Amino acid sequence: MKIVNSFPEGFMWGAATSAYQCEGAANEDGKKDNQQDVINREIHDEYGYADASVASDHYHHYKEDVALMAEMGFTSYRFSINWARVLPDGVGEPNPKGVEFYHNLIDELKAHNIEPIVTMWHYDLPMALVDKYGGWRDRQIIDDFEYFARFILEEYKDKVKYWLTINEQSIVVNYMDRKNKISMEDKYNPKFRYQANHYMNLAHAKAAIAIHEIVPGGLCGAALDMAPYYPHTCDPEDIMAAKNANAFKNYFYMDAYFKGIYTDSVMAYLKRQGLDFEIMDGDMEIMKKGAECFDFLGINYYQSACVKAATPGLARRSKQNNKTGKGGSVVYEVQPDLFEGCKNEFIGDTDFSMPIDPMGLQYVLEDINDRYHKPMMICENGFGAYDVLEKDGSVHDEYRIAYIREHIKAMKDAIANGVEMIAYNPWSAFDLLSTSNGIAKRYGFIYVDRTDDDVKECKRYKKDSFYWYKNVIATNGKNL
Ligand code: BG6
Repeated sequence: MKIVNSFPEGFMWGAATSAYQCEGAANEDGKKDNQQDVINREIHDEYGYADASVASDHYHHYKEDVALMAEMGFTSYRFSINWARVLPDGVGEPNPKGVEFYHNLIDELKAHNIEPIVTMWHYDLPMALVDKYGGWRDRQIIDDFEYFARFILEEYKDKVKYWLTINEQSIVVNYMDRKNKISMEDKYNPKFRYQANHYMNLAHAKAAIAIHEIVPGGLCGAALDMAPYYPHTCDPEDIMAAKNANAFKNYFYMDAYFKGIYTDSVMAYLKRQGLDFEIMDGDMEIMKKGAECFDFLGINYYQSACVKAATPGLARRSKQNNKTGKGGSVVYEVQPDLFEGCKNEFIGDTDFSMPIDPMGLQYVLEDINDRYHKPMMICENGFGAYDVLEKDGSVHDEYRIAYIREHIKAMKDAIANGVEMIAYNPWSAFDLLSTSNGIAKRYGFIYVDRTDDDVKECKRYKKDSFYWYKNVIATNGKNL
């Protein structure tokens, strides 16, 4: 492949979003609730954060948004299909207006030479399936996911080549209570998360097989949240903790996608902890077939992590960044008898306490390439901050430019070391709902003028990063 300014010819530059975080029109034109509509309404009532009912109002602004993306020079755009918009009851009767919306969006992208990269599922299960059998709680979800996958593949197969099945499966598993509308009983049932993970692997595999069956030249990927786990010190106990964390949080998911297998050391650990799950006859064959159809991995990279040997007796907990946007306290994750998170003294943090580590991106890209030898695309990478809209309509987000610049450099270094990269799609094209901090924590190149309390008109403004990224794209990554 010809390399132009360190980036391959045809390398795609764009950005990413997800449906419930940007579309709005949550109950419009035949769409019914998905679990994120409900979860975000509850979050709104409890904390005052914006909910998904209007979000960035992309449903009504999509033409303007695509025009702005085209002005930046995008050649790709990663977005997700809102399952309950096209199939309001999860399966069965389609919603013509919802189906049409994605045709319109894809056509608009194609008219501007922007390649659509479509995520099938980004946290938003239709409530109909959650009410019927608890969503990922029940094996029925595998068939229903396949039904949905086959439906959208048939519908958009002539227009979309790149498909991502599931967004951040490891995050869904580790933050099961926040990403799913599940019962209290399941929230406190640690076994549930690994059984659900198995169902997700089967749903993913069936969708992967369907992509190859239905879409001419179609390529299958999935987007994984990827943080490399570093040892706190060179004490062998810490080195082992880092090895364990990488296996438990990263390879366990990648081995399933790339090889259709479960990582031995993780399975042994789950068994020791009484967290093993049911695998039925034929399941591993389906996962193997799915792996044969897995073409590329989507990487969502924000941060690295640091771990040490787990303090005996500590209960499991997930990492919690601060919500204040003013730095400060972090609750580090614990996986009993396996590893315990801690601060990496060598790198700084964002105001939301996310470690900033561009070299960690180079590390994961090279590590994954050396292990699995498949192409990758960045499906998320970005800097969440409280941006300020100035009176003249400008937004000076030099911190975002600095963050993205260093991560593009890291990706460039990984390419120089043999990694095959398809695209860079940072988070996010325009401002949208954060999964943890409402609309106030922003990631976009385009400012969407609304607050948590007041949706206003969601007017769009170009941030400084908009102009900077435009130049990066125009020079295929030469001018950073
Ligand atoms: C990723 C998700 O984990 O991180 C996105 O795929 C999310 O949906 C993004 O928005 C940023 O996280 P947050 O919590 O700041 O929105």
